[in-house]
Amino acid sequence: MGFGRNLNRRQFLAQAGLLTAGALLPTRFALAQMQKIRIGLMLPYTGTYAQLGVAITNGFKLAVAERGGKLAGREIEYFTVDDESEPAKAPENTNKLVQRDRVDVLVGTVHSGVQMGMVKIAKEAGTLMIIPNAGLDAATGALCAPNIFRTSFSNWQPSYPMGKVLADRGVKNVVTLAWKYGAGEEATAGFSEGFIKAGGKSVRGLWVPFPNVEFQALLTEIASIKPDAVFVFFAGGGAAKFIKDYAAAGLRKQIPLFGSGFLTDGVLDAVDDAAQGIETTLHYGDGLDTKRDRDFRSAYSKAYKSDPDVYAVQGYDAALLLAVGVNAAKGDITKKKEMIAAMENAKIDSPRGTWTMSKAHNPIQDIYLRKVVGRENKVIGVAHKALADPARGCKM
Ligand code: BEZ
Repeated sequence: MGFGRNLNRRQFLAQAGLLTAGALLPTRFALAQMQKIRIGLMLPYTGTYAQLGVAITNGFKLAVAERGGKLAGREIEYFTVDDESEPAKAPENTNKLVQRDRVDVLVGTVHSGVQMGMVKIAKEAGTLMIIPNAGLDAATGALCAPNIFRTSFSNWQPSYPMGKVLADRGVKNVVTLAWKYGAGEEATAGFSEGFIKAGGKSVRGLWVPFPNVEFQALLTEIASIKPDAVFVFFAGGGAAKFIKDYAAAGLRKQIPLFGSGFLTDGVLDAVDDAAQGIETTLHYGDGLDTKRDRDFRSAYSKAYKSDPDVYAVQGYDAALLLAVGVNAAKGDITKKKEMIAAMENAKIDSPRGTWTMSKAHNPIQDIYLRKVVGRENKVIGVAHKALADPARGCKM
């Protein structure tokens, strides 16, 4: 069809009243800007880690809500998968988000075994992934990759400083007890490394399959070994059960119990007095007494009618980190290089305290010494300032 003798297509449309605001035909960039950023949340919403998945989700969504529900002007669309903390289902569940839902960013997960499956797929597909909990050392170690970031910790990181804390107190012989899977193995190895390096004598490891909570036989064994101290890795519902069983077995007054802070975070309401006095090391705690933390805690409590814990902070920080990347790319998330560069150089103003990103994409952060007092994991000191994971095997 012709447009008339002296009129081109635009002049013709304008004359016909079909082109109103001049040349405002949207460019490809503008069209992309109108699309929502697709975020895949792969987390446990059932099982022993369900509460952790909910807290991470709440924290992430709170940070986005504080930015008006948008990042760099782009709305967010969430796609959610319950990974059940089941490593065997990890490839299928990750692909639901990557292939079926075509998410732009993967956020997950909690369980190190599930994380292993996610890392492999994210590396192959090149999908940007932010890990808001799972400590799997290899994720920012031997399997590190430009598109994989973590806002939580490596399993080594919060446990290693407790080794020195105990050795400095003259503790010589320790029994460790943990769920027998990646997180338990790496957390107790981190503790042992710090303990022996600082002068500790011996560490004997006891194990229970994940997510088993039948602790009786192991508690009897600990009573007969009579170590100077016990160091454990448990989290979520299993941690609450362990704390109660340890007290009920009468061991609390005989053999002091320590752990990485997952033992007591988010479980104090469920254990009554059984946790009083337990000391742990972690990158968050109660009573930090900074304006940043107070503001976060009051916003979280207002939004969710519950107190935040370390998992909520890690989810919140995952959104803060993503915001840094999306802002640097001015909302154009196809600009992966710009996003990654900005995220690598991010300085996150977190409720836990400001932290930066290591070369392997894991937080460099303070590890606090905490003690359970009432219903709080009260910060009583800094066990290790600005601790970076050794990132063994990372070639990036
Ligand atoms: C993990 O599997 O990496 C993990 C789970 C819960 C708390 C901390 C670490």
